[in-house]
Amino acid sequence: MTYSNIIVTTENRITTIKINREKALNALNEKTIEELHDCVEQLSQSEDTKVVVITGVGKKSFIAGADITMFEGKSPITIRNIILRLQETLNKLEDLPIPVIASINGYCLGGGIELAMACDIRIASNTAIVGQPEIKLGLIPGAGGTQRLTRLVGSGRAKEMIFLGENIDAETAKSFGLVNRVVPAENLEEETLKLASRLAKGPSFALNMAKEAINRGPENSLLDAIRMEGELFALCFAHEDVKEGVNAFLNKRKPNFK
Ligand code: CAA
Repeated sequence: MTYSNIIVTTENRITTIKINREKALNALNEKTIEELHDCVEQLSQSEDTKVVVITGVGKKSFIAGADITMFEGKSPITIRNIILRLQETLNKLEDLPIPVIASINGYCLGGGIELAMACDIRIASNTAIVGQPEIKLGLIPGAGGTQRLTRLVGSGRAKEMIFLGENIDAETAKSFGLVNRVVPAENLEEETLKLASRLAKGPSFALNMAKEAINRGPENSLLDAIRMEGELFALCFAHEDVKEGVNAFLNKRKPNFK
């Protein structure tokens, strides 16, 4: 598939996806959702990429939500198809076996924060504005917001954000645990790359197992989830990285993971 609404580049095993609809503040229309879906599908089969970064083109917006123009004149059935496709794309993104970073370079609203919450780590510019403003359109979040936001920040804060639809700044989002780090806007790209490079040098199998345990855990009881963690811990010993990590520690040197 040739992309026009996203720009995908890979350098040093870090794949960057830029949403490329600057004039519409990188809102997600059907074509963008399809391109993202295809890209995530390709990444799920790639052995070359170790980390994914998602960001928006331009300085003003990460993603200002679903493209509101596509809501006009559509039947509930068509809307359902679109939203389920977006959900499927974000679920696949969340399930990628490698770390995914949302580099939030501005407005991160509605479907934008929903996409960012399907990523593993969110790093935001100090100028970023985050929110679930759907209620102002007579809507509710439709791409996981009621669920992922609640799990990230708790139901009290999620209800306040979703019921009022008021946006919050990056520092407030950080204090809620909704973004991990806030950096000056001019340093966002550099700080994102530093983080991505560090993760790219990490033991990819153990990162995969850690992500699996963290993502799947809440679907189970605490005891079952801890048991699953033990199984995944043991599975790490099937990979040569654990030999390298332990040997490096014992010989007081830096590990060189494959
Ligand atoms: N969909 C379509 N177009 C959008 C858009 C969106 N979500 N957000 C912004 N745009 C367009 C504007 O219509 C405008 O286009 P024109 O230049 O052709 O008029 C352009 O982007 C620039 O936007 P503004 O002039 O509005 O810029 P601003 O600086 O005054 O305001 C903003 C920025 C506060 C982000 C404002 O654009 C805004 O509130 N956007 C809508 C945000 C929103 O409601 N998002 C949720 C969408 S619903 C959803 O996401 C459902 C879901 O759960 C999946």
